[in-house]
Amino acid sequence: MAAVGIHAIQKSFGSTDVLKSIDLAIEDGEFMTLVGPSGCGKSTLLRIIAGLEAQDAGSISIGGKAVDDRRPSARNLAMVFQSYALYPHLTVGQNIAVPLRMRNLSMTERLPLVGRLSPKAAGKKVEIDRQVRRVAEQLDIAHLLDRKPKQLSGGQRQRVAVGRAMVRDPNVFLMDEPLSNLDAKLRVHMRTEIADLHRSLGTTFIYVTHDQAEAMTMSSRIAVMMEGDLIQVAPPAEVYDDPADIRVAEFIGSPKINILSGIVTNQGTVGCNGVEIGIQPDCPAGAEVKLGVRPEKLEIAGPAPGRLTAEIRHLENLGPDMLVHLRMRDEADPIVARCPAENLRTARVGDQVGLVFSPGDVLVFDGTTGLRQPSRFAVPAPEKIHA
Ligand SMILES: Nc1ncnc2c1ncn2[C@@H]1O[C@H](COP(=O)(O)OP(=O)(O)O)[C@@H](O)[C@H]1O
Ligand SMILES: [Mg+2]
Repeated sequence: MAAVGIHAIQKSFGSTDVLKSIDLAIEDGEFMTLVGPSGCGKSTLLRIIAGLEAQDAGSISIGGKAVDDRRPSARNLAMVFQSYALYPHLTVGQNIAVPLRMRNLSMTERLPLVGRLSPKAAGKKVEIDRQVRRVAEQLDIAHLLDRKPKQLSGGQRQRVAVGRAMVRDPNVFLMDEPLSNLDAKLRVHMRTEIADLHRSLGTTFIYVTHDQAEAMTMSSRIAVMMEGDLIQVAPPAEVYDDPADIRVAEFIGSPKINILSGIVTNQGTVGCNGVEIGIQPDCPAGAEVKLGVRPEKLEIAGPAPGRLTAEIRHLENLGPDMLVHLRMRDEADPIVARCPAENLRTARVGDQVGLVFSPGDVLVFDGTTGLRQPSRFAVPAPEKIHA
């Protein structure tokens, strides 16, 4: 087990700055997820931690010691890739044993004949088999040890790849989108397995994904990366409820957060689609702001004066809940509300409805920089404004 320190790491490919000075302290035993859109630099950062890629500047430490001049094999990390990279001609048992054979047997001891004749090599092989079986039992694949990879399902292959990483007993697990080759249902199941594995091993995990749902469900903390920068590092709930930047708010959460355009009024409140919203951001009158409201914080009501109105375009029944897709005049983007289905029995496509939300549920972002703006509720703060 070990903490991992990422200190001012920079990397360019040609004229592209892929990592623009990344700092991140990952605690011993933590499950840290690097999440961000495709191409933002996640794999590059993971490969630099592993020593598979050299940084242009900055330093990586493991267990408090700089490892920049250590080869990948000397860093005591194990990496699980998206393509499991199993050897097709080896059995499951042999695949899992590969790292142990490389580490514990000499070149000659690995030869079949010498291996059988030398008692020392035979002893080492018994020990390797024992370790392979122990890991296979932990992952519930002991009954598959004699099969070849092509005789396995996607989920089983994924477990073999994890087994091959575990058998080395690494200080840190690095995982680069390990679930992205699996179908949707299995992916959700494997999230639980990986989270369980982390709990039982207690080892530091650094997990890379572009899938915000994976990041939200498994991690102790998530680090949101965009265009080579870390924008926010926090526990999942905090990133969701308290995003530091509009890009984080829009990336985390499904369906996506609703964003409305507003202007700060002379009274300090916000005008939005001709309606005054009872929040007071720390911005001067006339400033452009963006208002973020999560779909589950929007309620559908009848249209009323002083209330935002929108037209129902589509109703998506999720069983207990309904996703109401709306279009608001003067807003380019559609609006989505997630409501209990029982509240919407009479709603029909084409209806004009009012939108109701509490000022405490509105996130305010600077219209230019996208940074979160502290804001107060207009005094006196009503329990629920009918905006
Ligand atoms: N070896 C390389 N040579 C040139 N460009 C690269 C190389 N590796 C990655 N890149 C570029 O760096 C950027 C970040 O890539 P990557 O770290 O793979 O992103 P992610 O894993 O977040 O999708 C991309 O624009 C990618 O094209
Ligand atoms: Mg990648």
